[in-house]
Amino acid sequence: MESSGISRRAMLLGAGAVTAWAASPARALLARVDAMAASPMIESLLARMTVAEKAGQLTLNAAAWAGGAANALNPTKAGATFDAQLGEVRAGQLGGVFNGHGTDMAQRMQTVAMREARLKIPLIFAADVIHGFRTVFPVPLGEAGSFDPDLAEQTARAAAVEASAAGIDWTFAPMVDIAHDQRWGRAVEGAGEDVFLGRMMAAARVRGFQGTKGLTADDAVMACAKHFAAYGAGEGGLDYNSVDVSERTLRDVYFPPFQAAFGAGVGSTMASFNEISGVPATANPWLLDTVLRKEWGFGGLVVSDYTGDEELIAHGFAADAREATRLAFMAGVDMSMQSNFYRDHLPALVASGAVPMARLDQAVRRVLLAKQALGLFDDPFRRIDAKRERTRVRTKAHLALARDAGRRSIVLLKNDGDLLPLPRSGKRIALIGPFAQGQRELIGPWNVYGSDKEAVDLLSGVRALVADPASVTATDGSGIDAPLPGGIEAAVAAANAADIVILAVGEAQNMSGEAQSRADIVVPAAQMALAAAVAATGKPIVVALRNGRALALSGAVLEAPAILVTWFLGSQSGLAIADILFGIAAPSARLPVSFPYATGQEPYHYAHKSTGRPNPEGPRVDYKAHYREVPNAARFAFGHGLTYGKIGYSDLQLAGGKLAWDGTLEVRATITNSGTRAAEEVVQLYIHDVAASITRPVRELKAFRRVRLAAGARQEVVFTLKRSDLQFVGLDLKPTVEPGQFRLWVAPSAQAEGVSATFELVAA
Ligand code: NOJ
Repeated sequence: MESSGISRRAMLLGAGAVTAWAASPARALLARVDAMAASPMIESLLARMTVAEKAGQLTLNAAAWAGGAANALNPTKAGATFDAQLGEVRAGQLGGVFNGHGTDMAQRMQTVAMREARLKIPLIFAADVIHGFRTVFPVPLGEAGSFDPDLAEQTARAAAVEASAAGIDWTFAPMVDIAHDQRWGRAVEGAGEDVFLGRMMAAARVRGFQGTKGLTADDAVMACAKHFAAYGAGEGGLDYNSVDVSERTLRDVYFPPFQAAFGAGVGSTMASFNEISGVPATANPWLLDTVLRKEWGFGGLVVSDYTGDEELIAHGFAADAREATRLAFMAGVDMSMQSNFYRDHLPALVASGAVPMARLDQAVRRVLLAKQALGLFDDPFRRIDAKRERTRVRTKAHLALARDAGRRSIVLLKNDGDLLPLPRSGKRIALIGPFAQGQRELIGPWNVYGSDKEAVDLLSGVRALVADPASVTATDGSGIDAPLPGGIEAAVAAANAADIVILAVGEAQNMSGEAQSRADIVVPAAQMALAAAVAATGKPIVVALRNGRALALSGAVLEAPAILVTWFLGSQSGLAIADILFGIAAPSARLPVSFPYATGQEPYHYAHKSTGRPNPEGPRVDYKAHYREVPNAARFAFGHGLTYGKIGYSDLQLAGGKLAWDGTLEVRATITNSGTRAAEEVVQLYIHDVAASITRPVRELKAFRRVRLAAGARQEVVFTLKRSDLQFVGLDLKPTVEPGQFRLWVAPSAQAEGVSATFELVAA
């Protein structure tokens, strides 16, 4: 099936895609980083630096300013006091700080760097700006549900505008780790389980953070694609756990979103905490040099994760701090976060010859080039402006975007009897559950600078949209993890006094995020008891789930006639949910992750392989690949999401049914809205390579398109497939395309049949 001619052509195609980073004109400055004379200014600076000053440039520490946020998100480490940190700046012992606090702090630190340090090298200010800054947008997983890269670009742009106004030059985002295992709490920070969607979102977020005017713009921040690589593949969904995946899976699944980020010109990447098949990523020369630098030509900055180099000792990879430093540095980590290992050990390592001066210069050059690209040598204070810090945040436009992003992230899982949308008047509504009211659990995990206190809760959102606010009551009914005394009785009374119940249940915001793996991805038992008691009243229930991952739903929550997945939506949470509840906007988001029947199915992803004994549809047959207790499928599939219209798929046409080797294949399908309300549909195109030299997933998403359909409208959607869409990582671990039969679906989810047909890729 495969001929070497085919592979060669395919390899060329793949190589072209991955060198896009270096070719991108807007990144020319950063891409020059490895050139001998990157910039005369930087070369002359390098020539004047002592080894200790060079090691200082490679040191990035949590800001010590009181109120700095680093310790809220990371293990507390006895760090320097602010005065001691200023002393380090003065002595040329610090390249930058992260998760600090505002322009006051940045002004003071940068002033010391520029006035009192010998070489006057500006500091770089970094932060975890993951889903918004003071305006908080939906968690990235939720926003991925929008299937709308333009939206992700807009929210990243708004986050960059706000963060840069507070003195921040560099964000540790986007997180582009593919997550197949929903026990892993950090799934919330990424774009979900799918490679194609992950690539789209990764590139969009980089474009948004870095902007289109170049990194020198005072509202641009340098992005950081993290965590390189395969952090999401930790065994058992346990954060920080070991990863053992094949090089093929790395290249097929875990690398592509990084390549998309590099293609979009991301200025930096972060080495991940995990080991990959016995070698920690932080000390992995194959990953950080052979692949990243030599194969892909990435010229930007590689930063460790928080104490990642120090952790080489706990991994059992380095015997001591000196060895850990050498291993991480020589593998390709340019800048060390938080351990001080580089500052403490590189000078001696260079003196002994264990680390060549050329490697030290290369790493320092990359840091200085990043600072130059960000315009810091021209104006070290360009992002430090107290007035902008006040005026560029939480603007009307950003809050409106947060509301829009919120409603476009909400997934309608079911809507039996068209319970939704609700009327805005004439009904008594009981909001019940620990997420019904109050300034808590709104902004979600991994937000450093936003505040629950500034966000709109569900009660306020619902009351703002109904004709009579007094018709809406709110009752907690339960704590998140534990019952409330008298809670169920109060909830049942509230339900009995209402016409409709909105049951706001789910996960606390600290149940997902870093170090928050769950062994059972369910709604906690106390809330399930509340749901059962409320369901027993017989009142119609709309479940509004709060969650940072896919959940295995059951009992009264699953049986409710309507279920909305509302994730953590940020600043405008309650208004966005209310917009959907009352039909101000129709739900249009899709699941970016499969919701399983049971936790025991994890890791679960729709794009799994067939096996030699695939489970047939219909009655159970023995000796097939299945569980005893639950189906193989997802309860709610990747890509699933209803709207208020009634959508149908028909009239699939594949012009000729053949894709010529260098040609294109037009795929047409008609989407009809036979309902009475306008709708927005995410039309998804999946393929399956019927037989290949490497087995391929049962389905793979290759394209999607959003269409808006008025009530009763129909529209033809046209996709154009080409050979490169059918590419996979071949036997030789290179991009490969093989002629032959492919199955194709245009469908509303990874599990729906939609309309389907086969076509053939014809050899040249
Ligand atoms: C550790 C996390 O893994 C990383 O994503 C984050 O950027 C750093 N801490 C800094 O807060």
